[in-house]
Amino acid sequence: MLTFALSKGRLADKILDMLRKLELCDLTIEDDDRRLVVEAGNYRFYLAKPSDVPTFVESGVADIGVVGKDTILEENRDLTEVLDLGFGKCRMCVCAKVSDGDSYKTKSNLRVATKYPNIAKSYFDSVHQNCTIIKLNGSVELGPIVGLSDVIVDIVESGRTLKENGLEPATVIADLSCRLVINNASLKTKYNEISNIVSGFENILKEN
Ligand code: PRP
Repeated sequence: MLTFALSKGRLADKILDMLRKLELCDLTIEDDDRRLVVEAGNYRFYLAKPSDVPTFVESGVADIGVVGKDTILEENRDLTEVLDLGFGKCRMCVCAKVSDGDSYKTKSNLRVATKYPNIAKSYFDSVHQNCTIIKLNGSVELGPIVGLSDVIVDIVESGRTLKENGLEPATVIADLSCRLVINNASLKTKYNEISNIVSGFENILKEN
């Protein structure tokens, strides 16, 4: 039995599509399905919140996780990232008001609003800039607009949210996309089953 932790919706659908293509598991999850554990053949799926996927995988209750690189960096769990799935591409950026330009770089005790306090803190530590992290849970762009923060650290995909709010990406911290992560013990104990999936997924990604 192989157990996956993933989030419901587009991501789960993509993974189930790939398992179907590999003829490993024939399962679809309907939008109105409320089950949190779904099984088919030799596969079990836990439908978790995206930010909780690393917790399930690190603990070993799930062998495999599908999760964004943003969550991997923020959670910093003890697990093994094995494959870039290539979808969900975006960037983690420091973003500032267009009118402020790069001035944030020389500001002492910079105020940073973000949903990603660990990523933000470790970035500003790496450039030796003091900062105060202000944790928000969404609509982070409000930070500089209302004067709560000087900048934000957030995901930029199309850039539309920034543009429509008078902000711009100033520094790219990391390129992000969905990744396949594996529990460290499962990688040894279920090596053959897991390699089969990883190489199958790699082949599908090459074809696209
Ligand atoms: C994310 C992110 C940005 C936006 C970026 O927010 O935090 O706000 O998407 O996308 P764009 O560059 O294509 O405009 P999300 O939609 O998750 O909502 P939230 O702000 O409530 O977290």
